[in-house]
Formats: sequence, structure tokens, C-alpha cells
Amino acid sequence: MELSERDGERGRRPAARGRSYERGKSLTEKAQATENGKAQTDGSDSLTVTDNRTGESYDIEITEGTVRAMDFRQIKVSDDDFGLMTYDPGFTNTASCRSAITYIDGENGILEHRGIPIEQLAENSNFLEVSYLLLYGHLPTEDQLSQWVHEVTHHTYVHENIKDFMNGFRHDANPMGMLLASVGALSTFYPEAREVGDEYQRHVSAVRLIAKMPTLAAFAYRHSMGLPYVYPDNNLSYTGNLLSMMFKMSEPRYEPDPRIEKALDVLFILHADHEQNCSAAAVRVVGSAINDPFTSLAAGIAGLYGPSHGGANVAVLKMLQKIGKVENIPDFLEGVKQGEERLMGFGHRVYKNYDPRARIIRGHVDEVLEATSKESQLLDIAIELEKHALDDEYFTSRKLYPNVDYWSGIIYEAMDIPTDAFTVMFAIGRTPGWMAQWLELMNDEEFRIARPRQIYTGPHDVDYVPINERDGS
Ligand code: CMC
Repeated sequence: MELSERDGERGRRPAARGRSYERGKSLTEKAQATENGKAQTDGSDSLTVTDNRTGESYDIEITEGTVRAMDFRQIKVSDDDFGLMTYDPGFTNTASCRSAITYIDGENGILEHRGIPIEQLAENSNFLEVSYLLLYGHLPTEDQLSQWVHEVTHHTYVHENIKDFMNGFRHDANPMGMLLASVGALSTFYPEAREVGDEYQRHVSAVRLIAKMPTLAAFAYRHSMGLPYVYPDNNLSYTGNLLSMMFKMSEPRYEPDPRIEKALDVLFILHADHEQNCSAAAVRVVGSAINDPFTSLAAGIAGLYGPSHGGANVAVLKMLQKIGKVENIPDFLEGVKQGEERLMGFGHRVYKNYDPRARIIRGHVDEVLEATSKESQLLDIAIELEKHALDDEYFTSRKLYPNVDYWSGIIYEAMDIPTDAFTVMFAIGRTPGWMAQWLELMNDEEFRIARPRQIYTGPHDVDYVPINERDGS
């Protein structure tokens, strides 16, 4: 097993920074090179910045289309000045790491894992193979794949105490909250996972997380339905076992429908990773405090819970239910344009084109409805709503297109998965991606604890007032 192959970035580490400044030196040259406010290029990969407060000019290195925020710290008005910071709420233009896992070209709707287009993976691969690819950087050989599947399949059971832990939740607890808590709790069952420098511990944690996430998700679902837990059936496929743990009743053996098994597998592939989104960033931030993967992934699950991220598939379904019938679509869209509503499942921070995952999922909707013999009134609304929005200048001018969550809720609903559990399904799919992000972080030669800066806007030098003298202001 190639535990160390994943770090494709080694050797490509950028040269130590801080040597690229020519503070003061280049001022005259650069000032002369500027005529009528237009700089003349000299062909070098650098940015010349003039601080108009001091008249000083700085050359800042550009590497891979990026400048280092720390390079700006040298720009000061005096020796005791802290130096210039960059301000980027929501990290809209800040790369927080170098990564070789997932590539997204949002303008052109391209998504690749380790260089392989998502369309090829969805068509030819399966979720466990894609998990291996994300974690270890290459497609497994036949032997590697069978060993990997064997390992994941034989780590599906959880400690019996986890059942008691689950039982402690209220009957109507949100399954996502239960998953978040139980994944965090797993860290206490595997304290050795805190040996984050140990290659074996890293690997076995990855196996455990990918193997146990469906078990925890299914237990959370069964708890919320008031049903007894079903233990894993290791003779079934990854998704077949999940379906068994969720839906098995009194029959001796659950037989998953292969079309549903396959559709779920494709959904998991489509959710497997999406580079530095909110939850992956949360995993990296928490991991950077040298936390084990269970703790770090619990942070990822917390990030995913929100309606702007993984919770969007729940919000889409609620939105479609609220619209109720096709005739109500124009009024609903008017509300969106007035800012009273949001068109859930549309828009993306990165994609300014049709999300390629949405296109692939759309192709499986009819198949799942056929397999479950369901007619979905919501599907009719979703199809019409999409048509209207794609034909409307408000949405096209803002480059708002369907994202992955637009269609996934309809599939989950057809599979009889309750709305509250949709995001739990997303979390199962995203687990290898989070783990790959965590592993890459641990192998990063530029590893540092995440610690953003702030612009302090509060008061200074305020005196403490005794409680009996306070007027509430
Ligand atoms: N409905 C209506 N207007 C929207 C929407 C939407 N879904 N998304 C963005 N806009 C408007 C927004 O109001 C703004 O308009 P204006 O320029 O007039 O102020 C403009 O489009 C730019 O939007 P933004 O808020 O700057 O975009 P963002 O990158 O900050 O937000 C987003 C991205 C995904 C949070 C947002 O598009 C959204 O809330 N979408 C709905 C929720 C959703 O489907 N989330 C799932 C994302 S995919 C799953 C995942 O990868 O996590």
C-alpha cells in the first residue's frame, strides 16, 4: 500500500519567500517605467506595488498566478508599523493551501479528481475506487483495490457503546446532528488516531471513517424513525450495505435494487470531494491544530450541515414543496428577484456555469423513479423551475445555474430517505474527500496552524465599570 505516494506536491514547494522584496531599491526604476499611470512591463513574474503613503515601491513575486499575502507585511510606513494585511471575508480570492487532489474550472464547468474528469469517474468507476484515488493519488491496481475494498468492508462495525450513545439523543434528533456528534465521539474510541505522524494510524483512520460513516448514518436514521439498528452486512456492496442498514425490516436478508445501489454509488462519487469548500476548509483548519481525523472530520460535518452548503439539498426539497405546483413558479421566481426568497440548488461560489455534477445526477433521476415506481410531482416542478430560471436574465446575468444539490434531493426522496437525512448522505459521500484533504495537510511542508488575522473595529482603553455603576449603554 502506497501510504506516502499521496504527496505529489513534494519537491514543488515554492522557494522560501521574503527574499523577493526590493524595498526602496526599485522605486526610481519602477517610477520611471510608469507613464501616464500605465506601467510598462519588463516580462518578469512579479508585481510592482507602490505605497503612496511613503512613495516606496516593492517587487512581489508572482508564482502560479498567486502572490503571497505575507509579502505585503513588509510594506510599512515606519519600522514599528505592523505592515500591510490583506482583507478577504469569505476567502473569495485567497488560496489557503497548495493541493493536488481536485481541480475545478468553474467558468467552464470542469471538475477533475487527480486529473480524471468527473464524467469518466461517474461512468466507469465506483465510490470505493474513487475514494482510493482521492486518498492515494492514483487509481488502484486490481490487487490494491481488492485489498482496499476488503479493509473498508471489514471495518463497518462500530463499538456497541456507540449504540448507547445514539440512544441518548431525543427521538426527533436531526440525524446530521447525531452524525456530527458520533463521528467526534469515535475519536475517543480510537485515541491512537491522535498519533497523526504515524502512517499506519493515518491509513487505518481513513479506512475506519469511510467504513463506519454509513453505519453511523444508518443508526442515526433508524433512531430518528424509532426503528431498531441493523448491523452491517459485509456481503453486500458499500451502498447495498447502507441500504440494508437503513431499510431492512424483518426479512432474513435485504436485497438492494441494483439500480438504486448504482445511483447511490454515483451520487457518492459526485459528492466525494470539491476542493476548498466550507467543510473541507473546516477539516483543514481544525486539523491544523494537530487534531486526529475523527475530530477534524466532525468539524467538516458541522460545516456541511448548513443550508448554504450540504444542507442545500434539504432546502431544495422544502422549496419545491412550498412552490407546490407548476403554476406557482412565476410568483416564486418574482419573490427570488425581490430578494424575499432564494432559489435553492442554484448558484455556486466556484461554478459560473452548469455544475457538471448536476448534469450527471439529472441523468439518474428517471432511473431511480422507475426503480422505486414513484411519480414525483416535485420532479415536474423542478424541471419547469429550472427551465424558467435558465431563461431568465436575472439568473443568467448572475451566472446562476443548477448545482449538485438541485437534483439530489429528488433522488433521495424517491429512495424514501427522510428530508432531514439528505445531508447525512452527502456526508457519507464527502468522507474520502475530507480525509484526503486532511492527509494532504499532514504531509504539507508548509504546514502551519490556521490562524487568520482580523481588522479590529472595537474600542480601546475602556475602563472597567463596577456593576452598580453601569447604565446599560
Ligand atoms: N438565488 C437567488 N439569487 C442568488 C442565488 C440564489 N440561489 N445565489 C446567488 N444569488 C445572487 C446573489 O443575491 C447575488 O446577487 P447581487 O449581485 O444582485 O447581490 C449574486 O447572485 C452573487 O451571489 P453571491 O451571494 O455573491 O454568491 P456566493 O458565491 O457568495 O454564494 C452560494 C454561493 C452557493 C452560497 C449561493 O449561490 C446560494 O446561496 N445558493 C443557494 C444555496 C445552494 O444551493 N447551496 C449549495 C451549493 S452546492 C453544494 C456545495 O458544494 O456545497
